[in-house]
Amino acid sequence: MSVVDTDPALVRRLVDVVGADHVLADDDVTAGYRTDWTGRFVSPPSVVVRPGSTEEVAAVVETCRSFGAALVPQGGNTGLVGGGIPLHGEVVLSLRRLDGISEVDADSGQIVAGAGTTIGTLQATAAEQGWAYAVDLASRDSATIGGTIATNAGGLRVLRYGDTRAQVMGVEAVLGDGRTVTALSGLYRNNTGYHLPSLFCGSEGTLGVVTAARVRLARPPSHRVTALVAFTGVDAALAAAVALRRTVPTLEAVELMVAAGIELVCEVRGFPRPFPEAHPAYLLVETAGPATSLDDLDAGLASVAGIADAAVADDAARRRALWRYRESHTEAINTVGTPHKLDLALPLPELPAFVDRLPGQLATVAPGARLWLFGHVADGNLHVNVTGVADDDYALDEAVFHLVAEHHGSISAEHGIGTAKRRWVSLSRTADELAAFRSLKAAFDPDGILNPHVLLPPAGP
Ligand code: MLT
Ligand code: ZN
Repeated sequence: MSVVDTDPALVRRLVDVVGADHVLADDDVTAGYRTDWTGRFVSPPSVVVRPGSTEEVAAVVETCRSFGAALVPQGGNTGLVGGGIPLHGEVVLSLRRLDGISEVDADSGQIVAGAGTTIGTLQATAAEQGWAYAVDLASRDSATIGGTIATNAGGLRVLRYGDTRAQVMGVEAVLGDGRTVTALSGLYRNNTGYHLPSLFCGSEGTLGVVTAARVRLARPPSHRVTALVAFTGVDAALAAAVALRRTVPTLEAVELMVAAGIELVCEVRGFPRPFPEAHPAYLLVETAGPATSLDDLDAGLASVAGIADAAVADDAARRRALWRYRESHTEAINTVGTPHKLDLALPLPELPAFVDRLPGQLATVAPGARLWLFGHVADGNLHVNVTGVADDDYALDEAVFHLVAEHHGSISAEHGIGTAKRRWVSLSRTADELAAFRSLKAAFDPDGILNPHVLLPPAGP
């Protein structure tokens, strides 16, 4: 499909709604909206429409509905499962212009942000007023609040504060039938029926287009301590992650890395090796709280086995220097080749056996492929990245997802299903759950125009 396939009458109507400057059709201009962060999902030419208000979003949805045209809502385009890319010629509904943000409501500790507000801006605005937004992720300067709601993003501090769903107190959203629901009151207690804001978290733009959100904020801790800890083996690192989660009250982050990833990051980014010798596995551990969080960290580390080396930092510059080993993984892996990004959740007791079986599985299905392992392991969230496999070769994905199911895990922990995983959703959801999903979709989006090719597997036998 190319731009000429988009009905010119629809394009004219969209121009009437948002103005000619905000309907993009030129291939070069739209390229950045049509390629995902990894480069694995690239769509043919398509129209991009950039409304500047909730009313314009509603008018765009209504216009597309009247033409029977499908829409793909898009935020910062940092998704990793092809969920925000118009792979089937859909109109891209970019929310980036909805980037207004309120003052912090200091009584409730909440803030209202337009869907296009980046997580970085949200964090900075909160910080200026003495608060913190707890969801944090490496793509913070591009990822938007709307996009992170659509995927129910997790990030680096879920074990202390929960995922995006745990922060969202309210949303404003335009449904597929053109109606706008506004639930932004931010009441801490409200038992009057269904909790619509939660429903939009992880819905991947299939139920409605989130235009604004009200989120809860946290009080920033007075001290943070970060440690990069090297382990004698991956098993020891996994056991330590689980033990720290249990024993360290001020724990905020526990991130697994392995030798290959650290080596690659140092090579690509020119960072110094963190220790004189390489080690099989590493945990980046952070505690936050009162000054005693350093004691917490020390006591926690003293109680785990298999530590080969450690670097501890409690000032901002040295802490940042440790974090960049972890935060550079995505970018560094992209330089090796287009990765298959398998974001998985395992029950904590299953992690060691799963990690043990993974290389064998890979060697059988994709000999010659390279495995890159990292992730938020204290939550059981592993990022299994594989390079050296063709973009459209799904045998590897299939094998790994079945392995996850054998270990009672989920095929998506925080990236969503998108187009990349929809054919395997039934490994993580029952037929009855999927039927309920379809009923919800039909109720919110009766004509099926909102992101129709993601999340739910194609209907049929
Ligand atoms: C991360 O944890 O760094 C993000 O989920 C991105 C990624 O998996 O590449
Ligand atoms: Zn992650």
